[in-house]
Amino acid sequence: MTSLNAQRRTWAEVDLTRIENNISAVLSAIKGVYSIAVVKANAYGHGAIEISKIAIKCGVNVLAVATLEEALVLRKNFPEHPILILGVVDVDELPIVSENKLSITVHDLRWLKMANNAIRLPINIHLKVDTGMSRLGLHTAEQVNEADFILSSNNLFKKEGLYTHYAFGENPDSMKKQQLLFNELTKGINKSDYYYLHLSNSASLEDSLSLGNTIRLGISMYGLLEPKRLSIAGEIKQAIKLFARVTQVKHVSAGTSVGYDHTFTMEKAGYIATLPIGYADGFIRRNQGRSVMIDGTKYPVIGRICMDQCMVLVDANVQSGDIAEIINDELSVLQMSEEIGTIPYEVVCLISNRVPRVYSRK
Ligand SMILES: Cc1ncc(COP(=O)(O)O)c(C=O)c1O
Repeated sequence: MTSLNAQRRTWAEVDLTRIENNISAVLSAIKGVYSIAVVKANAYGHGAIEISKIAIKCGVNVLAVATLEEALVLRKNFPEHPILILGVVDVDELPIVSENKLSITVHDLRWLKMANNAIRLPINIHLKVDTGMSRLGLHTAEQVNEADFILSSNNLFKKEGLYTHYAFGENPDSMKKQQLLFNELTKGINKSDYYYLHLSNSASLEDSLSLGNTIRLGISMYGLLEPKRLSIAGEIKQAIKLFARVTQVKHVSAGTSVGYDHTFTMEKAGYIATLPIGYADGFIRRNQGRSVMIDGTKYPVIGRICMDQCMVLVDANVQSGDIAEIINDELSVLQMSEEIGTIPYEVVCLISNRVPRVYSRK
């Protein structure tokens, strides 16, 4: 009988038990702290709806995304749960924000003044202070005071959160510096007007109690923190795997060249397997030379990775229809990110929309 998986050319499998265990491990490490699950970019490639369901089940207080579009998709699926947009919404979009009971970030005084003129219905606000990223946020005490004054003067603005973002999550000295600046920039306002005070992300979660009452939880939910960083890192596990089914195997003679630009030539006769996964699926060209695993054996990717396919040097044991593991526990996201010179976030965000996500519980 052919299963749904048997028909897939390539797919990502997300183990929801691991996601649940990861979230539970973090939440028990930070008892007494509110939590915001960062599920932007399709939950770092894992699937925003499924991950949000688990996060809510685990007791996460707020879901956070980057854009209004992402927030609206979540709102359809979660009619009541608080949803925060970490990025910027257009002032013209405020009616949609209100109708959908979304929370938004106030990042800039000029924007806030326009919003103050445009707002017609209540909106929950998280005021963002820039303490070192030089990205979004108010960056002087005067701006923070004026923003707080505007928010206090218009009762359609509901103060819900006050936050900043660390530039070096795992660097205590730099974190301390940003905390001191945060206190300096916000000393003229009444911080207790804001329900959620959030500074920490995953890498700084063990510091989340030192300032603030809320953590924004991203990469740790997905089990992709570097193990050395945190005491709980050993408890959390990568939840995603990536697979492709061998489409063709051929026996070729010595001297046969492979792929665009013929960057690989067979030294002796052997077998080449073609996999239906390429850079348009997120398996980027830098993976050339790395291994995939078929039935427990590692085989190298040879020749240039194409848009939709790549080739692997295999042996007589491999047949078309076999499943190649591109990412698994051994060929991990962390290892791939190190080998191709990037970070785990980028590896999982690169897995594109055309790769179906399949959910399991193990
Ligand atoms: C503003 C903000 N908060 C929190 C996070 C989550 O960080 P992490 O995935 O490192 O936990 C991100 C991630 O990009 C972010 O941009």
